[in-house]
Amino acid sequence: MSRIPVWIDTDTGVDDAIALLTAVYLDRLGQMEIKGVSSVCGNVEQEKTFVNARNVLYLAGREDIRVYPGADRPLTVPLETAAYIHGENGLGGAKIPISPASFETEKAWDAMYRAARECEGNMELILLGPETNAATAFIKYPDFKQYLKRILIMGGADVGGNRTPSAEFNIYVDPHAAQVIFKSGVPVVMCGLDVTMKAGLTLEEIEKIESSESRGCRLFRESTGTARKIYEKNGAGHYFVHDACPVLFAVCPEMFMGEQAGVFVETRGRITRGKTVSDRDTDVKFGVKNTFVVLDLHREQFAFRIIEALENT
Ligand code: RIB
Ligand code: CA
Repeated sequence: MSRIPVWIDTDTGVDDAIALLTAVYLDRLGQMEIKGVSSVCGNVEQEKTFVNARNVLYLAGREDIRVYPGADRPLTVPLETAAYIHGENGLGGAKIPISPASFETEKAWDAMYRAARECEGNMELILLGPETNAATAFIKYPDFKQYLKRILIMGGADVGGNRTPSAEFNIYVDPHAAQVIFKSGVPVVMCGLDVTMKAGLTLEEIEKIESSESRGCRLFRESTGTARKIYEKNGAGHYFVHDACPVLFAVCPEMFMGEQAGVFVETRGRITRGKTVSDRDTDVKFGVKNTFVVLDLHREQFAFRIIEALENT
């Protein structure tokens, strides 16, 4: 299996960090090649997500992977963060060593466009937060789409929402950017809440992680407390690793199930702002099937890969 060249854009929060550690492990296994990482505002402010991405890569021994700073606010609406879940520092209050890597000043959208051209159309874009940086790249570089194989996002929901009853957080924060992605003409894999709220770790799996003293398992233990309390209070389960879904889909799509459909974003609604509208279950169709809507997964295989990555970090 050849290494899949990927670019990861992240609003490095708690589940983003786990997804980054999983991607680094897949890179080490030779299943993917991380061409670069970029930070975006979302869970917390961009200056924090930038530092968090750098430090998580350093924790994994991959401070050589360059991190590029991106947007500090959505395309048009004011920034709304999720510090109540991810903590003020974005990592649930966990303190990790500071990366010694030199600071990149090239902007995220310029760097990801450059990398996509260098990969001659084989690069896959993995978006783990609001899609502001990628949308900016599409706006600034109209030929960006010809250099991307596909875009895999954690975002959206065919049914439901977690920021409002109709919108998932990443799409809600920047609905206009998300619309640019779904209208880009590049095939999209949407790992929305339909699948990520099934991508949970059980209590015994969490206890197995927490019994390990690897750096990855320690970060999990020290960063997920607040989010787990919220999930348990809502009776939803123990811990959902939303952002690991598009990362694992990139290298093992057979772990997931879904359907091809047309998906576009509500950008003007007051109650429905950020709703990803799909024609999967409707008589009236959009006329394009631009998105693979992921609906389910083999949860045990998913959990196994996450635990394996954290134990080996
Ligand atoms: O709705 C879950 C998404 O919002 C995840 O990407 C999480 O990191 C937050 O950004
Ligand atoms: Ca995220």
